[in-house]
Formats: sequence, structure tokens, C-alpha cells
Amino acid sequence: MAKYKAAITGIGGFVPETKLTNFDLEKMVETNDEWIVSRTGIKERRIFREPGKASSDMATYAVKELLEKTGTNPEEIDVVICATVTPDMQFPDTANTIALKIGAKNAWGFDLGAACSGFLFGLTTGSRFIESGAYKKVLVIGVDMMSSIINYKDRTTCILFGDGAGCVLLEPSKNEYGFEDADLHGDGSGAKFLNMKAGGSLHPASEDTVKNRDHYVFQDGRPVFKAAVSGMRATTLKVLNRNNITKDDIDWVVPHQANMRIINSLADYLEVPKEKVMTNIERYGNTTAATLPLCLWDYEKKLSKGDKLIFTAFGGGFTWGTVYLTWSYDSN
Ligand code: COA
Repeated sequence: MAKYKAAITGIGGFVPETKLTNFDLEKMVETNDEWIVSRTGIKERRIFREPGKASSDMATYAVKELLEKTGTNPEEIDVVICATVTPDMQFPDTANTIALKIGAKNAWGFDLGAACSGFLFGLTTGSRFIESGAYKKVLVIGVDMMSSIINYKDRTTCILFGDGAGCVLLEPSKNEYGFEDADLHGDGSGAKFLNMKAGGSLHPASEDTVKNRDHYVFQDGRPVFKAAVSGMRATTLKVLNRNNITKDDIDWVVPHQANMRIINSLADYLEVPKEKVMTNIERYGNTTAATLPLCLWDYEKKLSKGDKLIFTAFGGGFTWGTVYLTWSYDSN
């Protein structure tokens, strides 16, 4: 039995100013705007290129915005959870670097992988921390600097990904609204379809790994696409059914932004009108762990107390799941 209910009480976000458009990509690989838009829905993505800066810097910009908006003293933060597949370094964890940069002197923290499901897993973990009564303020960050692990000679992946950061603050709810339910999954047999082979203990960096371009994202798109569609449908349906939620009860679907066709197929399956589905893939592409909080960041002003939100994501691992949350404040 949970001691408290966890609620999102603030949002922050950051996207770099530099844009990489489909027309820019046309000059880099054999592709074209029409193909990219019709297959993915993406028109442009943001790229973080500041010498000496990394994922922790994007996350720091996002968190500082959140702290200012909510009037939170960073020294009150108990835990920092940083979902990312592009940490500043293999270790120490980027969460610790972010805590230092924002002045969260009393926080402990850790990084969480889970690729495109990272924020969803972090949101669930952070909410469980609050529910237990052990912590009062948990920061959950989703940040990825995908441009640091993308091969800009591979047209099948370089058109998809972008850089960005988003974050939420979790606190014990002051009303009846907040984190309601989660259904999370993993299947290691999906690793062969979406991975970055080198740089870990299996294939430490070597001349060969560099030559083979094994320090970049590899994806076999079709099986990932199919598993994403079926996985997101099944997990969302499960959460809706066990919470007695009908399509008419849903105020917002917050889907991972990997491909507009996947998002549309989910919306059609749930019979939820497109106006209730948060999207920004057209402008940011797939920012991996940052897609869900960046959706919240873009739509914050439209959210009202009591709104029912269904978050769902699918990513490398495979990892996937759904979170049901009721919104705890009037954001406008
Ligand atoms: N520009 C032009 N043509 C391209 C291209 C590009 N950027 N990328 C691939 N193609 C070509 C392929 O070479 C292939 O050509 P062929 O038929 O001559 O072999 C053709 O387009 C179709 O490729 P395919 O991979 O089957 O396309 P697709 O419709 O599956 O779309 C993805 C590719 C990557 C957009 C899609 O598979 C996808 O979104 N996958 C899931 C991504 C995802 O959800 N990830 C989740 C976790 S991040």
C-alpha cells in the first residue's frame, strides 16, 4: 500500500537552437524530404554542438528552467534520476554531474538506460520512491545527445534522431491526482535489432570497432517498427482495461516520438482523436529518452488538473510500457 501518491509538480525542457533539416540531410546522404516525411513524419531535428558540452549541459538547462518555474531550491532535491543512452562518460553517472551543475548538494542519483523507454521507467521508479515515503522531491530527467552516436553516413538512422532534454519534478500529491498505474516490459531478444555494439565490456573500443563503425547506433528498422506497434498497443490496452478507462475518458496520449506512422496507428487503434495525441516529432525527431518530457514541455499550457494522461513508449532492449497518470495542477 502506497504511503503517498506521487504527482508531477513541474516541467522543464531544452532543445538546442541548431536545426538539421531534411534538406540538410539530402546533401549528406542519398535521401529526400518527401521520403523522410512520408515514412517518419520528421521535418527537422535539433543538434547540440557546443565545444566541451554534453548531455549533462542540456539536462542542466532543462532542470534550471524547472527550478525557476516552480520556485524550488535545488538543495531540497532528494534524488536525481537521469534516463539516457548518451551519458557524458561511461562513468561517473551523468545524474551526479547534473546534480553538481544545478547545485543539488543533498541529492543522490543514478543513470537509467532502457533507451526510448528510459523516461517511462524513470517516472515509474521515481514515483515509487515518493509513494514509499522515503523521498519528497525526485527529479526525473530524460536527455539524449543522439548526434554523438549517430553515423551521418547511414541514411536509415541519421534521419530519425535528434538532441534534447526534458525533466519533471515528482512530489507527494497535495490532492487526489498523480501517478496511477504502470505496466512495464523488457525482452532481451530484441537487442539484435537495435543497439550500439562497441564501447562496453563486450566490445571495448579498438581500432577494429572504430573501423567497423560499431560506436554508432545500429537499427534494423522493420522488426523494430512491428514490435513497437504491437507492444505499445498491448500495454496501453492492458492499462486502460485494468483502470476501467474508455477511449472517451482519455484526455491526452503521450507517445514516444519514434515514427509518426507508429503514433497514428496507436491513435487509430485506441480510437482517440489526433488532437488528444501529443506530437512534436516533426520538429525534434526522436530524442530517445527526452521525447516524453519534451511533449509535456510543449503541451504544458494545455494541461488541466484532473486530466487523464496515458504515456507509452517502446525502445531498444526491447523495452516498452505504459504509465497512467492524472494531472495534478492547472498549468496555464
Ligand atoms: N531515404 C531514402 N530511402 C531510404 C532511407 C532514406 N533515409 N532509408 C531507407 N531507405 C530505403 C531502404 O534502403 C529500402 O530500400 P529497398 O527497398 O531498395 O531496400 C526502402 O527505403 C525501405 O526501407 P525500410 O527500412 O523497409 O523502410 P521503412 O518503411 O521500414 O522505414 C524506418 C524505415 C527506420 C523509418 C522504420 O522502419 C522505423 O521507423 N522503424 C522503427 C523505428 C523505431 O520505432 N524505433 C523505436 C525505438 S527508437
